[in-house]
Amino acid sequence: MSATRTQVAIVGAGPAGLMLGHLLHLRGIDSVILENRSRDYVIERVRAGVLEQGTVDLMTATGLGERLRREGMRHDGIYIAFNGRRHHVDMAALTGGRAITIYGQNEVVKDLIDARVGTSRPLIFGVDQVMPSGFTGGRPSVSFQKDGDGFELSCDFIAGCDGFHGVCRTAIPPSQLQVYERDYPFGWLGILAHAAPSSNELVYSNHPRGFALFSMRSLQVTRLYLQCGPDEDVNDWSDDRIWSELQARLHTDDGWRPNEGAIIQKGVTGMRSFVAEPMRYGRLFLAGDAAHIVPPTGAKGLNLAMADVYRLAEAIAEPSTSRREDALNAYSDRGLRRTWRAQRFSWWMTSMLHRSDSGNAFDHRRQLAELDYLVSSRAAMTSLAENYVGVPFD
Ligand code: FAD
Ligand code: DHB
Repeated sequence: MSATRTQVAIVGAGPAGLMLGHLLHLRGIDSVILENRSRDYVIERVRAGVLEQGTVDLMTATGLGERLRREGMRHDGIYIAFNGRRHHVDMAALTGGRAITIYGQNEVVKDLIDARVGTSRPLIFGVDQVMPSGFTGGRPSVSFQKDGDGFELSCDFIAGCDGFHGVCRTAIPPSQLQVYERDYPFGWLGILAHAAPSSNELVYSNHPRGFALFSMRSLQVTRLYLQCGPDEDVNDWSDDRIWSELQARLHTDDGWRPNEGAIIQKGVTGMRSFVAEPMRYGRLFLAGDAAHIVPPTGAKGLNLAMADVYRLAEAIAEPSTSRREDALNAYSDRGLRRTWRAQRFSWWMTSMLHRSDSGNAFDHRRQLAELDYLVSSRAAMTSLAENYVGVPFD
């Protein structure tokens, strides 16, 4: 087995792991990023698309803003649709000019990989049998295999950025973690279509047939989601069925409807809320989906991951100057505060917009009353807007 050393071993090359490596590099801190998938797989994985103002600011401040500025689509507002009408929420006006930017997660990942490759610091794809150890003593390390050869990477810190199904969180003894979880009885069927967006902003729709969401990736590509069962087989959804369901749930009385076009990608995702506390065990720090999952309705997952690693990079950089590790000790509590705020918001958006499985007519009328209050109260719209655009990273 070959032995190597670095300051920070980062497990996972999703947005969290790659951004952490980038922030550490800018502070002159060495890291190795280990990813079990291939580079192409990581780049092509279609997922999130909404960047909070804080994520955009972080990318810009760290030299990753150029393509984002050119190709990202700044949206000052969103639409909430119900009872056949679209209602506009002017987020920028309600939050002193903060906004969201549409820029696919795979574009963020591509920019981060390019930046990493430019530094010549290690980013190793296609590794196997990654296992963190020694994080409660003074000798943290991560063992892994690459092309059949074994490696032992010793380090000062391990960053578990390996997503919900990764190995880092499960390497912590279960007795040391408190887990909070909630499953939702539905999923999202998501598609990408070659169709010009027919609205310049996102439309979140509560419809008696179920939730639907209109989003986009560019002036030529629309991204759309439909509430469906959590375990539905995507093969049961023909293109015709998808379009007729989208039209039924999204069209509004003013004649607005999504444009149709060739479907170039489709997939079903389940929805859950999950938090593991604390986000740290010894020298092992969890960040992003490895520590928490939110249902996608609030568009928070990627942004929470970015906020985590921003704080983690600051904390890792601190001890060399202060030696007291205050920021490392505060990492989990500060992260959990932001996480629970996002959990509350995502749960609220989800329960307000999705068709309840109870089929209870009272639940639907209560949702409509909530939506009616939301779009007629400046206070309620401000609460939505400030959570949706995101509070500044701290
Ligand atoms: P991941 O992106 O999951 O990255 C973890 C990485 O670790 C992966 O590359 C994985 O291959 C790797 N890995 C796993 N196990 C190992 C191992 N054993 N060894 C080495 N590597 C390993 N969020 C938003 O903010 N806005 C949105 O609009 C939004 N929409 C979404 C829509 C959908 C359909 C989905 C599924 C998610 C959405 N999200 C959204 C959530 C967002 O995609 C995630 O929160 C985000 O990917 C988290 O980043 P991460 O780096 O923590 O984890
Ligand atoms: C997108 C995803 C979301 O989860 C959301 O709430 C809004 C937009 C998107 O992929 O564009």
